[in-house]
Amino acid sequence: MSITMTEDAIVLKNGAKTFQEDAEEPIYVLKNVDLTIKKGEFYILLGPSGCGKSTLLNIIAGFSELSMGDLEIITSDTTNRDGRGFVFQSADSALFPWLTVEENISFGLKMKKIPKAQRKEIANKFIELTGLSSHGSKFPDNLSGGMKQRVQLARVLANEPEILLMDEPFGALDAMTRRTMQSELIRIWSETNKTVIFVTHDIQEAIILGQKIGIMSVGPESRIDTTYEVDLTYPRDTTSVAFNKNYKQVQAHFEDYSI
Ligand SMILES: Nc1ncnc2c1ncn2[C@@H]1O[C@H](COP(=O)(O)OP(=O)(O)OP(=O)(O)O)[C@@H](O)[C@H]1O
Ligand SMILES: [Mg+2]
Repeated sequence: MSITMTEDAIVLKNGAKTFQEDAEEPIYVLKNVDLTIKKGEFYILLGPSGCGKSTLLNIIAGFSELSMGDLEIITSDTTNRDGRGFVFQSADSALFPWLTVEENISFGLKMKKIPKAQRKEIANKFIELTGLSSHGSKFPDNLSGGMKQRVQLARVLANEPEILLMDEPFGALDAMTRRTMQSELIRIWSETNKTVIFVTHDIQEAIILGQKIGIMSVGPESRIDTTYEVDLTYPRDTTSVAFNKNYKQVQAHFEDYSI
């Protein structure tokens, strides 16, 4: 599978962020950040811990404001948070424990006053897409970490966002579950044509998933140092020579510091 995109979905020019707006000499977490993400692209933000990946993703999500610069989100959806859906690192804090899997997934639809029968139909579609069939009536507390992350993803997808923003969504999962979720995410992405921005500090995860990898420099004043294009088709074989070559090239950017 090889996918090419042409239209822009997200354009950030000269972005900067400080959390000390009033200080005489504010410290910038992000500075001179330039970023262009194409419609339908799988884009990875890769960088060392604390460099500002979540800060940047939260700005793209609209949760936080830029201190300087211009951000353009180009979607045809102006009603649905401008077409953006956010998947958090922890499903535990994102899901409602008193609602079943199906109710969690259809929660946003209920808020949008979509009739019950239609909600059920949409929820079932995403239950199936995310591999949750037969778990619809369970409560989050009775699910494994991987299953909970599937529910969170299904709930976001049920709102049909054009852009999926994911902040280390598999960071808390064990290695095997994480690998399964990575494959599932690639399958879902290829079936739904979403634009995905996925944050990670794991080089292997970046190369398993990404078409482009925005490599961030160490903070403060972090920016996207290099945009690396992964020249591999999906699914990616982590044991192949070509995978290893990509890994080494990305790793070379981090030789001056450990991540
Ligand atoms: N609300 C805030 N107020 C003040 N400083 C903040 C705030 N949010 C983040 N920071 C600072 O901004 C920097 C970047 O934080 P951020 O959480 O974006 O990093 P990250 O790359 O996502 O790290 P990690 O890999 O650990 O998740 C850190 O130095 C952090 O302390
Ligand atoms: Mg973070």
